[in-house]
Amino acid sequence: MRTQVVIIGAGPAGLLLSRLLWREGIDHVVLERRSRAYVESRIRAGVLEPGTVDLLMAAGVADRMHREALTHDGFHLVFDGRYAHIDLKELAGSPVTVYGQTEITQDLIAACLGTDTKLVFEAEGVTPCDFAGANPRVTYAKGGQTHEILCDFIAGCDGFHGVCRASVPPGAMTLYERVLPFGWLGMLTETPPVEDELIYVRHERGFALCSMRSKTRSRYYLQVPDSDSAEAWSDERFWEELRRRIPGSAADRLITGPALEKSIAPLRSFVAEPMRFGRLFLAGDAAHIVPPTGAKGLNLAAADAGAMAQGLAAYYGSSDGAPLETYSETRLRHVWRAERFSWWFTSMTHRFEGDAFARRLQQAEFDAVASSRAFRTALAENYIGVFRNGSPS
Ligand code: APR
Ligand code: PHB
Repeated sequence: MRTQVVIIGAGPAGLLLSRLLWREGIDHVVLERRSRAYVESRIRAGVLEPGTVDLLMAAGVADRMHREALTHDGFHLVFDGRYAHIDLKELAGSPVTVYGQTEITQDLIAACLGTDTKLVFEAEGVTPCDFAGANPRVTYAKGGQTHEILCDFIAGCDGFHGVCRASVPPGAMTLYERVLPFGWLGMLTETPPVEDELIYVRHERGFALCSMRSKTRSRYYLQVPDSDSAEAWSDERFWEELRRRIPGSAADRLITGPALEKSIAPLRSFVAEPMRFGRLFLAGDAAHIVPPTGAKGLNLAAADAGAMAQGLAAYYGSSDGAPLETYSETRLRHVWRAERFSWWFTSMTHRFEGDAFARRLQQAEFDAVASSRAFRTALAENYIGVFRNGSPS
């Protein structure tokens, strides 16, 4: 079998790329290791930058999002009980859209299945081959049969633990990484959110985040040591700890209920450079990870898919290889900007055991944000990924 592009991984990066390529008439196959049910039920992020909304519209998968998503003009930052409101719309010119990655994934899969796109779930042993040269191949097995696909390009959209980055010769990419000694314990509940907007909380006992998926579904997070396990947290223990960390007025309003899902995500910063080797291009978590505080992971993955689709459209549509040539360089500028912001926002809001200097720095950061419109503007612009006075890179 032969195609133009093989996409490995059907997370948001791979699925969005598939939809964008389909719109350009670029022939491709998507290979996913997991089942459709597994991919569609993964609970992940939920805040979309305006640029991500634009890409979902360009991909033709925005109808349900437009009907069901919430629009948030701002969010709250709470530091040891003191509130600062970040008015995204007023400071940076645009709100954010709150719509779960789970819903986006379902919308993208439904759109793929409504066309002739070849989307293979439960593909085993997916292996990218010969991508250093002009004739890449991908092999995989399904239902006991082995398959080989010849292609022009391979899109590595297979997440942090995927096979694509791992197949690049050692030394060909530089890996930058920082792992934080704590994680986020997340809980999804069928309860109304405690507040209309998100609340990011810095507290002596650790960070907390009050987020949501809809007017009736909440998503809460607690900073926990990386040695912790979700099983150690009963629903009651979670609610009790959340109540202790959020401001009293919010705690009084908090409506509790049983967990639909509870899991711990590690906090990590990671970048692989360059994001390309030969005819293998990486996108999303395969190339970079940010700590979730800045809500950037999904947005970066979507922007990678958009840039890769643009590069491939120029290559096939007008024999212009330049955008593909500069894909890695262009994306890395954006990626490092998001890494910087995510790192800063995480450092400012999380508890770093036994570090009194860090604690005072956090206070100084919060004072700067609370008292300076310029600081709040920078925070708002980074959060929505739109820079009215020129992008910093
Ligand atoms: N073969 C085929 N598919 C694979 C393989 C493999 N060897 N390894 C991993 N995959 C699949 C995974 O099962 C998953 O469905 O690749 C997909 C990668 O999806 P994600 O991990 O969601 O990564 P990405 O599409 O880059 O989206 C990034 O997801 O983790 C969040 O915060 C992150 O929101 C960001 C977004
Ligand atoms: C979420 O709702 O899952 C969420 C929201 C904001 C973040 C991170 C995660 O910064």
